[in-house]
Amino acid sequence: MRLHRYIGQCGVTSRRKAEEMIAEGRVSVNGERITTPGTSVEEGDAVCVDGRPIELPRKAYYALNKPTGYVTTLSDPARRRTVSELFPPSVVGLKPIGRLDVMTSGLLLVTNDGEFASKVGHPSGMVEKEYVAKVRREPSDRDLARLERGVFEGGERLVAVSARLTGRATPQRPATVRIVLHEGKNRQVRRMLSVIGCPALQLERVRYGPIVLKGMRPGECRKLGMEEVGKILKSLGSAQ
Ligand code: URA
Repeated sequence: MRLHRYIGQCGVTSRRKAEEMIAEGRVSVNGERITTPGTSVEEGDAVCVDGRPIELPRKAYYALNKPTGYVTTLSDPARRRTVSELFPPSVVGLKPIGRLDVMTSGLLLVTNDGEFASKVGHPSGMVEKEYVAKVRREPSDRDLARLERGVFEGGERLVAVSARLTGRATPQRPATVRIVLHEGKNRQVRRMLSVIGCPALQLERVRYGPIVLKGMRPGECRKLGMEEVGKILKSLGSAQ
């Protein structure tokens, strides 16, 4: 790994500032001062900044119950609330895997393990994502079958693994629909429900692969055990 990237991942500073630090002669590797940009470091190398040793943070994995109104980003130029405000502050380098819309709540996986994030977030992983939507117009069996066959919207084909009506509409209550996806295209569930004429009034992600939202408070960020992390990896499609 390039030295400036390593310093960035250790949480010392940004990669750009790390390059400046290297040029200023503030970084050493195995006791030798390094000023060449682009130098690589390997596992086991002792890296110091201003004479102090630095280390990569331990890999950490969390399940976050994202409340509505939070943007899935690390910082927002419009200064809206971001999911990163809900991450444990002592853990360096955490990023969400994929995203939920600002008005969608529910389960978001968060990690500082880039390799894990790209495996799990890649479409070939075929991880099941399950959503519960409240819709004012109750979809018919035909509508739901259309979602499972695939609908076209905005030039894209959007397909559900399954789409089920799990709560009937009443004059006081909207209907409830459960949708499972392998895909994770932009605003996919909302777009699919709009195509069949049942736009979502509320949307929550209740499951991501083997990890379920049940029992988590809004805003709670729960550390995943290694067994749960292993289960997520095991659930990935054979293309991985
Ligand atoms: N589908 C959506 O429409 N929104 C999300 O946030 C996630 C899936």
